[in-house]
Amino acid sequence: MVRSVDFPLIFERSVPGRRGVRPPVCDVPVQPLADLLGTENLRTEPPALPEVSELDTLRHYTRLSQRNYGIDIGFYPLGSCTMKYNPRINEKVAALSGFAHAHPLLPESLAQGALQLMYELQEDLKAITGFHAVTLQNVAGAHGELLSLMLIKAYHESRGEGAKRKVVLVPDSAHGTNPATAAMCGFRVQSIPTDSEGNTDLDALRAALSEEVAAMMLTNPSTLGLYDRNAQKACELLHEAGALVFCDGANMNALVGIVQPAAIGFDCMHLNLHKTFSTPHGGGGPGAGAVGVSERLEPFLPVPRIIRTDEGRYALSYDHPHSIGRVHAFYGNFLNLVRAYAYIRAYGGEGLRTIAEHAVLNANYLLSRIREAFPPAIDRICMHECVVTAQRYKQTQGVRAFDIAKRLLDYGFHPPTMYFPLIVPECLMIEPTETESKQTLDMFANALLTIAREAMEQPERLKNAPHTTPVRRLNEASAAKNLVLRWQGEVVYPQEVPACAC
Ligand SMILES: Cc1ncc(COP(=O)(O)O)c(C=O)c1O
Repeated sequence: MVRSVDFPLIFERSVPGRRGVRPPVCDVPVQPLADLLGTENLRTEPPALPEVSELDTLRHYTRLSQRNYGIDIGFYPLGSCTMKYNPRINEKVAALSGFAHAHPLLPESLAQGALQLMYELQEDLKAITGFHAVTLQNVAGAHGELLSLMLIKAYHESRGEGAKRKVVLVPDSAHGTNPATAAMCGFRVQSIPTDSEGNTDLDALRAALSEEVAAMMLTNPSTLGLYDRNAQKACELLHEAGALVFCDGANMNALVGIVQPAAIGFDCMHLNLHKTFSTPHGGGGPGAGAVGVSERLEPFLPVPRIIRTDEGRYALSYDHPHSIGRVHAFYGNFLNLVRAYAYIRAYGGEGLRTIAEHAVLNANYLLSRIREAFPPAIDRICMHECVVTAQRYKQTQGVRAFDIAKRLLDYGFHPPTMYFPLIVPECLMIEPTETESKQTLDMFANALLTIAREAMEQPERLKNAPHTTPVRRLNEASAAKNLVLRWQGEVVYPQEVPACAC
């Protein structure tokens, strides 16, 4: 394990008998622990904990917290997976006791506020996407993908075509969750290439269509950060072949208030509420992957559905005989729904459109600053993210996109997504999001341009980066597989702890 730069670990600061608190002497009779717990449950030795003062403890945790990198510290330009700033008002609203402490088994009569919020969020998402109905049960984008394919499967089965429609088409630029979802759902995956302009290759699509095709999973904007100009035609072709089209909506940040995916011809889509509509989601969760569907898929939506009765009350409705059933306990990650609702209501229609416009503007500005050093994979106006290649440095200097990403750490930036989409060699995928200022984008662009110069002049500096971080370059595979999450050094502790020796 590589040590932190120069500050002793909390274990090294430990002094036998040192204490952070001095509890008052107990003035009531104390029942012996052995009577309470049973002798067999008592420790024979004290735990191997560091013995430190309150101040040492405070500094230890404060120091640790400062080693974290997050959107609250600096620019976080991950592509594909929007890591945007989440306004604090959303957290405040989600922490309101009526929401945060609502029990999921509350009777409907006592949960009217929560049900109303979910109902209105469904309505807002219908307006944003143009779909006929929305469910909020899903708790991740990939979960929304799964539900969408389950609905499509149920649709084909209801028409007696379940047995023959076994193939799902997935573009070669797709996020890995797409083919994985199709396979999990029991479909055979067939890859569809991207054409030279970054759109779905329509000739290849035509050639792949048959009565066996159940659906296509299409990401728009694509993971190349481009609007798929062939999406509408692709939907038409699939419908003519009796298949349906799912839209991977993880990139909706570019389209909110501008394009309704249902109008393009999609039959269903997932929305990553935890990306587009603002929830902190580092470290894998919790998420919310709402799904919107067209009229023909509505009967199969999961129950319970959240409805408004003729009397204006909100209710959970189970009376949907064709429903595929539940896909999650209760109603999804409710507090993420609260955050998304707060976000949507705080900005309103005009505000959301402005957000999308700024996201696209920022990505294009950044691309214009770095394109000489890092050319775009496909030379078009990009959407909310730009996909560039560092191939030139690999070919001439042996410097990989990976080395460039590591060097960015020395300049104080979180690296962008690397090596995705898979079809772009030495790929860097950068999504600045709408909230970053021109100054931040310039700082990031300047860092990338400096690194590009370094790649030509001192390539070894990049190959050994990072140089300034608490831990240097790790073997990523073994770091991920053999996690070292706690201090495992040899520490000798006293067997007996004196009462107090602060
Ligand atoms: C294009 C695309 N699709 C699907 C997903 C999966 O979303 P989630 O991580 O919420 O499961 C992602 C996540 O980054 C994505 O970028």
